[in-house]
Amino acid sequence: MLRRPRRNRKSSVVRAMVEETTLSPSELIYPVFITEGENKTVEIPSMPGIHRYTVDKLLDEIHTCMELGVRTFALFPQITEELKDSYAKESHNMNGLYIKAIRKIKEQLPDACLMTDVAMDPYSSDGHDGLVKNGQILNDETLEILGRMALAQARAGADIIGPSDMMDGRIGYLRNLLDDEGFINVSIMAYTAKYASAFYGPFRDALESAPKFGDKKTYQMNPANSREALIEADLDFEEGADFLMVKPALLYLDIIKLLNQNFDLPIAAYNVSGEYAMIKAASRNGWLNGEKAMAEALLSIKRAGAKIILTYFAKEYAQLKKNLG
Ligand code: PBG
Repeated sequence: MLRRPRRNRKSSVVRAMVEETTLSPSELIYPVFITEGENKTVEIPSMPGIHRYTVDKLLDEIHTCMELGVRTFALFPQITEELKDSYAKESHNMNGLYIKAIRKIKEQLPDACLMTDVAMDPYSSDGHDGLVKNGQILNDETLEILGRMALAQARAGADIIGPSDMMDGRIGYLRNLLDDEGFINVSIMAYTAKYASAFYGPFRDALESAPKFGDKKTYQMNPANSREALIEADLDFEEGADFLMVKPALLYLDIIKLLNQNFDLPIAAYNVSGEYAMIKAASRNGWLNGEKAMAEALLSIKRAGAKIILTYFAKEYAQLKKNLG
């Protein structure tokens, strides 16, 4: 045998030398949940280890993560039911929970990079990402609301806007609006290929944001399709996105690879709540090694072509890296 592939696996030194993929905490984005009040952290039952934080507590959490090398945070608000309406007005209330939280974090921790969520669902009495009229999700009318939301976030100090709504034309609409208002340096991470997935369940528990009727199939993509992802990516590229995202991540590694091969923008992937919950549940039952499963899952997403990974494992992964030296 002239070819013995095992020679390149014979010791940890050789294995490290030939290792192709590495992942650093600086490439992770940590999604965090904000709730009203003070001095409270409430664990989300379907997401062990993940909490809703009041803003004061969130500042501590962000500070800890920054020391571990995780420096970008995707913020999601839990809005009380009384503040929800069909127009998601609370989403651009300059004195509302979310906008105040952005201000406060940027004021106290200016080096934290904040990615904000642009979609109606946390604030909508219908629980949909767009405006609902007669059971339909209206596209162009929604853009106006998303625009108000994005501008409020930019004014509060958002570094990256993350439209997660899947309305047509929103990237160009938001880019133009931000530019007209002078926010030329606010980035846009487009949720480019966002699928109508069963794996968002725990996230909807966390925000109490599940749709009140129907599903999201008229705006989120069909899990059966991949070619459509290229159309979405073309549009987002042309409309000025700075990053293209695939969501979920682990079940859509082929889509990550497809976008990475066809576009020169950095590709991000969202390792979603259900993917997190599966690994946590199995590891809590002693059915697999949670740390190893986490590291392997994240590495696989990177290997498929994602430069950036949004993951609830961000802090735990950074902690693990630090402990391993
Ligand atoms: C909605 C939104 C969702 C997630 C992020 N933004 C859920 C949905 O589309 O219903 C899911 C994230 C996760 O599951 O971790 N705008």
